[in-house]
Amino acid sequence: MTFSAALDVLLSGAPPCADALAALIACGDTDAPSLYAAADQVRVATVGNEVHLRGLLEFSNTCRRNCDYCGLRRDNARVERYRLTPDEIIATACEAEKLGFPSLVMQSGEDLWFTGPRLAEIIRAIKGKTSLAITLSVGERDEADYRLWREAGADRYLLRIETTDPELFRRIHPDDDLEGRKACLLTLKRLGYQLGSGVMVGLPGQTPAALARDVLWLLDLGAEMLGVGPFIPHPETPLADAAGGTFDQALRLVAVLRLAFPYAHIPATTAMASLDPLGREKALQAGANVVMPAVTPTDRRALYALYPGKICLDDNARKCRGCIEARIRAIGRSVATGPGHVIRR
Ligand code: 5AD
Ligand code: SF4
Repeated sequence: MTFSAALDVLLSGAPPCADALAALIACGDTDAPSLYAAADQVRVATVGNEVHLRGLLEFSNTCRRNCDYCGLRRDNARVERYRLTPDEIIATACEAEKLGFPSLVMQSGEDLWFTGPRLAEIIRAIKGKTSLAITLSVGERDEADYRLWREAGADRYLLRIETTDPELFRRIHPDDDLEGRKACLLTLKRLGYQLGSGVMVGLPGQTPAALARDVLWLLDLGAEMLGVGPFIPHPETPLADAAGGTFDQALRLVAVLRLAFPYAHIPATTAMASLDPLGREKALQAGANVVMPAVTPTDRRALYALYPGKICLDDNARKCRGCIEARIRAIGRSVATGPGHVIRR
């Protein structure tokens, strides 16, 4: 399908087809500016000019899994592991609210020290002391844990599917299973979480057609927040020598997701910003409407190394908050003050 026919399909309001999605995802440098402009126009008309800030608290880099792409994988003995105490987590959350973050993302490796009840208690404490919206991103767990956290007040959950290609998923996840991941997402949805998912771009052997199928699957799931980033090879992993994804590949997918999910929350991700100094601005101008600056204590930031070259490792939450706000204003956008719940129509 030609680029312009594919763009027409996405703008027609009809359900997108795999061919049109793949044509846009694979578009060349000549067509890309039109894709980004179309996504930007849809973004203004749907979610508007406000950019939502979520403070990202990376509270443990301990992980039971061994994903082949990730620097925190269990077998990487060269990373010093940390785990914030419940009191540190709660204090950082309060600090994030004081700095003007209406919403907090609590992310960690799959760390079972945080049992269902333990994490529920932390969530309840934060909810008692602040009016933060809370997003969890702690991986695959039992329904019972997901339920406890929801009952404790967690509003949202992020769990990327990474890829829906069964063969590719198996190849990069030695100890995980695509159907299990899908089941977790369905459970989270059923429990009433605002649901975020997404993929990595540039995985070994991943094709535009495979990414198009991912988009269709995410539509089917009813994902309401969509995080995408380029895969950045980490030297201490089995995929150290892989080619990795590019900024441009990720930007095309951000734009395509905005066209396919007009009302979704789409972040300009740290992985994108790590590959291009103006990455966040470019993503915000190609469909994104969310930024997630770290509020992780400075002395732990370098240890949360999913991939090399991650930015803002020497900064603190106050500095990141200020820097991001200035960047948002510089491109003529404003910072949202509300919690930025998903938009359900
Ligand atoms: N490059 C880019 N993104 C990565 N993630 C993990 N490892 C890498 C990497 N090497 C992403 C995954 C995961 C999220 C928390 O970080 O998509 O879901
Ligand atoms: Fe653990 Fe998540 Fe990294 Fe996989 S991607 S190794 S689950 S931190």
